[in-house]
Amino acid sequence: MKQQREPLVYLAPFQGITTYVFREVYTQYFGGVDKLFTAFFTGIQTEKSLRSHKQELAVTHHHGVPVIPQILSKDAREMLLFARICHDLGFEEINWNLGCPFPRVARKKRGSGLLPYPEDVQKILEELMPQIPVRLSVKCRLGYHSPEEIFALLPVFHSFPLSELIIHARLGVQMYKGQTDWGSFEKVLENSTLPVVYNGDVFSPGDFDAAESRFPSVNGWMLGRGLLADPFLPAAIKGERPPVSPETKIRRYVDELYYAYRKNFNDDLRALNRLKELWSYLSLSFDDPVRVFGKIKKTRSFDAYEDAVRFVFETYQWKGYGGKKLEN
Ligand SMILES: Cc1cc2nc3c(=O)[nH]c(=O)nc-3n(C[C@H](O)[C@H](O)[C@H](O)COP(=O)(O)O)c2cc1C
Repeated sequence: MKQQREPLVYLAPFQGITTYVFREVYTQYFGGVDKLFTAFFTGIQTEKSLRSHKQELAVTHHHGVPVIPQILSKDAREMLLFARICHDLGFEEINWNLGCPFPRVARKKRGSGLLPYPEDVQKILEELMPQIPVRLSVKCRLGYHSPEEIFALLPVFHSFPLSELIIHARLGVQMYKGQTDWGSFEKVLENSTLPVVYNGDVFSPGDFDAAESRFPSVNGWMLGRGLLADPFLPAAIKGERPPVSPETKIRRYVDELYYAYRKNFNDDLRALNRLKELWSYLSLSFDDPVRVFGKIKKTRSFDAYEDAVRFVFETYQWKGYGGKKLEN
């Protein structure tokens, strides 16, 4: 059964990539995304601790698309403070990161490391939910060690008015590797009384079609690496044809990002790091991803970067990503 309405598509949060600058430029050039998520905030014990990240919360919408600030925490008071700050800034929803798989995070029962402890999740939500001034959605995995964990968590999630459950259909221990587990995700979807959003390995319109026919009742789709590799993916999923000359648009997008990051970093070379992170995905849409990324990666000055980008667009062809193998 096909979804009757247009699918909702969300930009997944990526630490170091889906920054304010990225979100602003992306939505200027590409359509198809219905929600944008910030990378996770952490260590928000006081309002002051947010000061150095002020820009990330500078706008509630980029070109009309709402931004959802994300927090990584196991402390209800910290989450409440973050929620209040976001509310005061005009945001209507925040997202709780229960998916981060990194051992140094998970070991401290944060991110996906909290998934094996439903009583802890319950306590946090009991303290937080009566006072929270904005909607709360959750981004989680199927579990840390085992998909059994999500089934112990569902009754906890169901006892609170969460706005959405966004599930990366992997386990924490898998990091970003191995198969997504569609069988367990399907069971969650059948048993959840909350709106559920699918996340994980949707890299092409074909992947989307396969997932959509398996999960017709899903509320939306969060796209990460596939979108970073091919910015046309959300529009393509919604049935839009790519422009006649996609590389012209990609070139403009890449140039705009370059100027925006230079400005953002006051011409500090750290701007190149941000661009290189994105190119590690974008290169996958060219006909020779290894050479393309190699060219960009080795640049150490703005002049060298500009030359490398020019060379890439003159030498290699934009093919679109289409789901070729990803490295990470
Ligand atoms: C470098 C990197 C940074 C990420 N940062 C975050 C983050 O800050 N918050 C979060 O919830 N997920 C984060 N993720 C996970 C992605 O949002 C997404 O869930 C994951 O890549 C699976 O989706 P995909 O297969 O569509 O890429 C990150 C992933 C990567 C590879």
